[in-house]
This record gives sequence, C-alpha cells and structure tokens, in this order.
Amino acid sequence: MINLDITGTLGKTITPSKGIPDQEFTGIKTRMKKYIESWLRERQSGEHAWSMDPYDKRVLKQVKDIATFTRTEKIRTVVWIGIGGSGLGPKVIQEFLEGPDTVEFVLLDTLDPSVLEMELKLIDWKHSLLVVASKSGGTLEPMSLFFLCYEQMKKSRGEKAANYVIALTDPHTGTMRSIALEEGIEILPIPTSVGGRYSIFTPVGLLPIALLGGDVPAFLRGAKTMDTLCQNTNLDENPAAQLAAVQFLLESKRGYAIRVIMPYAQRLESLGRWNQQLIAESLGKNELNNPIPLAAIGTQDQHSLLQQWMEGPRKYWHLFICEKDKPQLAVPQEVEESFGYIAGKTFGELLDACYEGTSRALTGAKRPHATLTLERLDEENLGQLFFLLLTEVVLLGKLYRIDPYGQPGVEAGKKIAKDILSQNTEKHRHL
Ligand code: PA5
Repeated sequence: MINLDITGTLGKTITPSKGIPDQEFTGIKTRMKKYIESWLRERQSGEHAWSMDPYDKRVLKQVKDIATFTRTEKIRTVVWIGIGGSGLGPKVIQEFLEGPDTVEFVLLDTLDPSVLEMELKLIDWKHSLLVVASKSGGTLEPMSLFFLCYEQMKKSRGEKAANYVIALTDPHTGTMRSIALEEGIEILPIPTSVGGRYSIFTPVGLLPIALLGGDVPAFLRGAKTMDTLCQNTNLDENPAAQLAAVQFLLESKRGYAIRVIMPYAQRLESLGRWNQQLIAESLGKNELNNPIPLAAIGTQDQHSLLQQWMEGPRKYWHLFICEKDKPQLAVPQEVEESFGYIAGKTFGELLDACYEGTSRALTGAKRPHATLTLERLDEENLGQLFFLLLTEVVLLGKLYRIDPYGQPGVEAGKKIAKDILSQNTEKHRHL
C-alpha cells in the first residue's frame, strides 16, 4: 500500500508560520468530507467516468488479444503515437516496463523532422505494430505522425498494413475513427466521457502494459484498492483527500505557489511529467490561485534546482515519491580511500541517503515537503498511484472551485497554427 507522509508540511515540524498549523488542518476536515461525499454522489450519477472504467471486461479482452497477436506475429517494435494525455501515460508505462526481454517501445510525440527522419531509418516496419492514440482523432501531431507512419507500414506490408495498426480513439466520433473504419483498422475505445489526461485506465494505459508483458489485472486491482481508500470521508484515512488538503493549504494560505513533483526513482521520471500535465491542464484556469506544477527528478535536480529551493523565494513545496524495495546493486568494496563511506553500499542506500539529505535539509530551512512511498514499483502500486493522483486533482477542483475537465486555454494556439497551415495550403495550390 502506498504511504503518504505529510509530517514535513506541518507547522509543528517547520514552525506554524511556514507550515500548516494544526487548527487549519483540523478546520478543513469537514469541508473535505463534504467534497468527498459530493464526488461519490457525482460518480453515482455517471460523472467522473475515468474512475469507473477500470472494470471494462470487453476492453480487457481486446487488449489481451492484441498482446497475443504481437507475440504470434513476432512483433519486435511497438510504435506508439500519442501526445498529452495519450502519450504521457504510455511513457510512464514504458519507463516502468521496457527492458531487454520486452518489445521495443518507440513513442512518437514530436514534430521535429530531424528526430522523425532518424526514427524512420531505425524502425523495421516488417516487425512493428503501429498504435495511434488520439481521443479526439483530430490533433495535429498524432494525425500527421499517423499519416507518415501508416504510409511506411503500407510500403512494408502492402494490402495487409491495416492488420498491423491499432487506433485508440473515441468510439463515436472523429477523423481517426472514420479512417480506421474505412481502412479496416481495429479500434480500441477511449470512452467519450473520459478526457485525455484522465485516460490511464482505458486502453491508453492498459494496452502498453499488455504489450510490454505487464500485469494488467494487477494494475486495475491497485486502482480498485486505492479507489476504496479514497472513498473514506475521514481525511486522516484518505490519502488523496489528505494530499489535496495539504496542496490547497500550502498554496492558498502559505503562498507556496509551486508544487515540485520529485520522484527519487528514475523509472518514475515521466510520472512527474504526467502529474504536471494533469495539474496544469485541469486546474490552471484562473489568474488568482491554483497550483503551479513543476516536474523534477532525484538526484539529478539536486545539482540543478535545489539551490533555489533552499535559499530562493519561499514559493516551492515538494512532493517526493520513493520506492522502498530496490535491486541490490552495490558499489565495489575496493574504492579510493576518501570514498570509504560508500564502499559496499547498495545504490539504493545511496539514493535513499540523498532523498533523506534533501528532505531533511528542506525541513531545516523550514520549507515544506510530503512523501509518497511505494513498497515497490510494480503494476499494483502504479495503479494505486495513478488513482490517488487523479482523485486528488478532482478534489482540488472542488477546493478551488475550478472545473478540472476540459482545457479551453490551449485551443487558441491550435487554431492559429491551423490557420497558418491552411493559408500555406492555398499558396501551394496556386503554385
Ligand atoms: O488531456 C487532454 O485532454 C489533452 O492533453 C489531450 O490528451 C491532448 O491534447 C491530445 O489529445 P488527443 O488524444 O485528442 O489527440
């Protein structure tokens, strides 16, 4: 079970003026109870569809069958196209599961032609499965990448190309859906009511786990376990509500505008980026107050950002994510004398010591932090972690009175880019 330790955010740890005083934390309990109850009621009436989806049996079978197909067909590479919510979640899964015994997972989410040219040279389409994930089926990046890659697949597989392509998209609408139906490409549904960044329990998260040989039921079991916990209306027993309360009080009452999400686990680096997107797109909708997320990684960012966190403006608070069980790889016994203090120590011990060093140094400087600890990084714990962070953002929406769904602010730039490209099309036509 994931453990959340919020001691480092409390006034009694870092002085009442810098941390959350007891009475503030006690004071928010009744409000949180009300919000958890309203979240549960809304779920009953069909809202928050992402939190219901872990249990779709039909999709589970489809995902399993595709994984079996890739093994039978000796697929070596999965080329995954998807951006934002359709790319960041799969990237987390890739970092967690990809290894020497799995298929290679190539995630394409860039328009940079130099990278694309290189990838196209490397991909062996005869042994690849192409997956395009686009909920709307109308996003510039995944659609242009799909056209590019599908052409390559056709060159390689001829008339059978569509058999080696899977589309994850809205089952009722969108260009990707129409193309898939026309071409005979298999569709896996991203339910209409589930937005991109909330789609980790749909095929967007489940298919990469299956393709990379992971345990899909365990992932969903983890989500279910955390779901049960997050239904508890007592703040002390509900980690998502507790994290939301801490986030809200630190930001709105103490001025810690920036939430640094910092795993001390390399395989969770993209989880930080996923959570950054979840918070920014869900809550960044007014100019007054809402959390500003910043993804970081330990230990690397100790050598990049820590100086400012220790002595710069008191605007940052830290959410660390740690993994308890780690491989036993150790530093050799024979090392230069001045490094005797690390001789024979495991790298896990080094990593833990650096986390302790950073978190205690922050406490010493009276700067708040909380820590999420996973027993081990496996499918079950990852399912728990995703569910916890998704629930947190929904509860934050209630605390801040912000609708966490939709992202109207990103549409303006998209429209301008489309207009520019459409004008250029006119020019091309007239040449
Ligand atoms: O969270 C969201 O809804 C967005 O970040 C989308 O995931 C992103 O814009 C990609 O959209 P789509 O999956 O429709 O291509």
